[in-house]
Amino acid sequence: MEIRVVWLLLMFSVSLVEATGCLPTTNLQCYKTATKDDEDFMCNWEDPNMEKNTRYTLYMWDIEKKKNVFSETTNNTNYYIILEKLGTIFREREIWVQKEVDNVACNSIKNKVILQCLVKYSEPHITSTSRSAGILNLTLDKPKDNRSVIYEIRWREIGSEWQNATFKTEDNTYQDFYTLQLQNQTVYQVQLRRRANALSPICDSQNVTWSDWSTIVDVPLEIRSAPKVSYKLWKHHNHSRDFNLTWDAPPAEESVGGVTYKLKLSVWPCEDPKKIKPITVTQTYHNISITFSEANVSIIAENKVGNSPTRSITIPAVKHFNNCPKHQSKTNAKPNKKCLEWYKLEDGETRLQAAKTSNNKTFQDIEKSVEMFVRHYYFLHIKKKSNFQTIARCPFYSKEGAPNKGPDNVLHFNVTHESAMVSWHFIPVENQRGFLLQYLIWVSGGENTTLYRLPANEKSFFIKNLHPGTSYTVSIAGRTKAGEGPNSTVNFETLSKGAALSWQDQTILSVCVVAVLCTIICSVAARRFRSKLLPVVPSPVIPSTDFIIPHNQDMSQVKEEVHEVVLLQLQELSKPKLSTTPERCTLLQDFGLVVFEEEEDDEEGVTDLRPMKSCFYPNPSYRGQVICLPEPILTSESIYKENDTESTYRNGLFFETVPECDETSL
Ligand SMILES: *[C@@H]1O[C@H](CO)[C@@H](O)[C@H](O)[C@H]1NC(C)=O
Ligand SMILES: *[C@@H]1O[C@H](CO)[C@@H](O)[C@H](O)[C@H]1NC(C)=O
Ligand SMILES: *[C@@H]1O[C@H](CO)[C@@H](O)[C@H](O)[C@H]1NC(C)=O
Ligand SMILES: *[C@@H]1O[C@H](CO)[C@@H](O)[C@H](O)[C@H]1NC(C)=O
Ligand SMILES: *[C@@H]1O[C@H](CO)[C@@H](O)[C@H](O)[C@H]1NC(C)=O
Ligand SMILES: *[C@@H]1O[C@H](CO)[C@@H](O)[C@H](O)[C@H]1NC(C)=O
Ligand SMILES: *[C@@H]1O[C@H](CO)[C@@H](O)[C@H](O)[C@H]1NC(C)=O
Ligand SMILES: *[C@@H]1O[C@H](CO)[C@@H](O)[C@H](O)[C@H]1NC(C)=O
Ligand SMILES: *[C@@H]1O[C@H](CO)[C@@H](O)[C@H](O)[C@H]1NC(C)=O
Ligand SMILES: *[C@@H]1O[C@H](CO)[C@@H](O)[C@H](O)[C@H]1NC(C)=O
Ligand SMILES: *[C@@H]1O[C@H](CO)[C@@H](O)[C@H](O)[C@H]1NC(C)=O
Ligand SMILES: *[C@@H]1O[C@H](CO)[C@@H](O)[C@H](O)[C@H]1NC(C)=O
Repeated sequence: MEIRVVWLLLMFSVSLVEATGCLPTTNLQCYKTATKDDEDFMCNWEDPNMEKNTRYTLYMWDIEKKKNVFSETTNNTNYYIILEKLGTIFREREIWVQKEVDNVACNSIKNKVILQCLVKYSEPHITSTSRSAGILNLTLDKPKDNRSVIYEIRWREIGSEWQNATFKTEDNTYQDFYTLQLQNQTVYQVQLRRRANALSPICDSQNVTWSDWSTIVDVPLEIRSAPKVSYKLWKHHNHSRDFNLTWDAPPAEESVGGVTYKLKLSVWPCEDPKKIKPITVTQTYHNISITFSEANVSIIAENKVGNSPTRSITIPAVKHFNNCPKHQSKTNAKPNKKCLEWYKLEDGETRLQAAKTSNNKTFQDIEKSVEMFVRHYYFLHIKKKSNFQTIARCPFYSKEGAPNKGPDNVLHFNVTHESAMVSWHFIPVENQRGFLLQYLIWVSGGENTTLYRLPANEKSFFIKNLHPGTSYTVSIAGRTKAGEGPNSTVNFETLSKGAALSWQDQTILSVCVVAVLCTIICSVAARRFRSKLLPVVPSPVIPSTDFIIPHNQDMSQVKEEVHEVVLLQLQELSKPKLSTTPERCTLLQDFGLVVFEEEEDDEEGVTDLRPMKSCFYPNPSYRGQVICLPEPILTSESIYKENDTESTYRNGLFFETVPECDETSL
């Protein structure tokens, strides 16, 4: 009876097992994370069919003593076992997991292990990589126990097969190191795992446990060139300047795995550049606020395998003042919040030496300490919150002297019988030896000497009221607070009254006379055109000439309006024009174009032109272009003469009237 019940129960439980499908756990692994004898163990396994209320019992069976030495129940798929609970770990054991769901149980495969041999290191961690062309150096963290290990490394070009290699490391080093040979110009991926190397001889029969693979690391090319940096003034404040810095990211194959930029901003002149802490940014721009003096910026791009060369740029100081502005603020800032900066500025513009700085000196301290007669420049900066500001800046001399040189290149020109012009180059700042206040100009001629004083920013002077035919000496010297410097002199002689005209003037005059004569002759020739006294003949500019129809002899300018360009038909033009709205045309023979213009409404002023031919060849350099003037309004008694050939001056232009303005080469 009892047996039958047991049998039935058994049958029942078997059918239950099958019904719920108690799938045993797999991949049971027990290990310690270092080779040392006092390590605790970790066991874990996988459950292919995990359900709520599942309980797992881990068993260990001592094969030699034929007894169960360990059994613990858990509802997780791992179990941490402190060493003390395990008894000896040097003998072979059978280990397995029993899974129990709703009173149904199944066992996993039983593994024969010697616990002491089960060492699974943590996955390796690449602490740094550096690459030079095809050489990749890898540094790796040591395993927990500092022991020698065997690594397997594998690498591939992205998208292709892994290649692998193994290497062994030493005991008791600070870090593990490996050099991998790669192709120069290729981006790679690298991954490693490791296992214990020298375990005790009893472990020979055992499978070694590899650590997990490390995460895949992308290996870019090294960054070969320094970033190209540019800066742009964004805002100029009263006491500071804002700049936008931007730079280029390295090419894609150098940027794989990410690039960061290390910026060193040297913007506080009193700070030791060596003590500046770099800032690291990931974007390719940065905004800085700086003082009015020079600022230095250095940028390094960094990727996984190394650094680019350093790019250093200097943002120059604002333009130096030539004179101290009156209103300079004074500061009572605390010593470490202020910074006095000064340097020699011999030529007033370029700093040749490094600036000197101090955060506890005052301007009075340095004023007397610098070289005499040489221009220096100082800045007073303060730190306001995190902003840097310049509250004073000035050129200064510890002591001023007189200039040691007169102005160079003193020239005279435009000398007439009563005046002359002199010019000179500024005395260079080096030679001023103080703040130049004035130029003194002595004009000596005959018995008399006259002194003129000119502001220091003048570089020419017009001397009037001279006597004709007298030789003059002009002496020019600069003056500072300390006195005047040496003279630079120039001599000239004014023209005598009779021969007051220079040969250039005479030439111009004779040209004018000839021109006037020509005008008269030509005017006579142009019988129908009342001769006029002409102004100097201006050179005609045809395409945009203000071609004028004078209104009642008015010589003032009248605008020409070009309305349209039309191709002209021959017979149309050859017809005598009797229209009351005559047209003007500009005929550009070379291009076969005739520009027609509608006449301006007001035709009263045209009366003078009535007898004129309508076409002119401007003379002489505009040959090939024919300007057609408006057909004069022809009264019924007017005779249209076609074959007249006349020359005339008209409004300063010399025209040769030609017949047949319509004789174009269309
Ligand atoms: C099993 O899990 C439940 C909750 O998920 C928890 O309360 C319980 O303590 C666990 N039992 C063991 C033995 O870990
Ligand atoms: C790699 O390591 C070797 C040996 O330490 C060294 O000589 C070489 O310069 C390193 N190469 C790079 C790119 O760091
Ligand atoms: C490379 O990997 C293959 C397959 O995993 C393995 O058989 C071989 O031993 C490995 N070679 C090295 C040098 O580790
Ligand atoms: C590994 O060995 C080095 C050199 O002997 C030693 O300085 C270091 O402290 C050791 N590290 C550990 C974790 O034992
Ligand atoms: C790799 O770089 C080295 C040094 O820059 C050069 O001599 C060599 O030709 C390069 N090889 C390839 C395949 O580009
Ligand atoms: C060693 O590995 C093989 C195949 O992976 C396995 O069949 C065997 O049970 C393992 N032995 C031990 C002691 O883990
Ligand atoms: C410069 O930086 C400011 C922020 O400080 C930003 O508003 C501005 O757009 C930037 N200008 C340029 C040209 O990038
Ligand atoms: C100013 O500071 C310097 C060091 O920075 C120190 O040597 C010097 O004695 C200080 N001078 C005064 C007047 O405090
Ligand atoms: C000479 O005087 C004329 C007219 O005053 C002026 O146009 C010219 O520029 C002067 N010459 C020079 C060299 O300045
Ligand atoms: C010198 O000055 C006097 C007085 O102004 C004047 O009469 C005389 O003509 C001047 N002589 C010459 C050569 O400039
Ligand atoms: C410059 O010339 C003027 C006039 O000739 C003279 O009075 C003056 O003393 C001279 N200055 C120097 C420094 O020689
Ligand atoms: C103009 O002269 C040409 C040749 O000299 C002649 O053939 C033509 O008939 C003349 N026209 C008039 C209108 O006189």
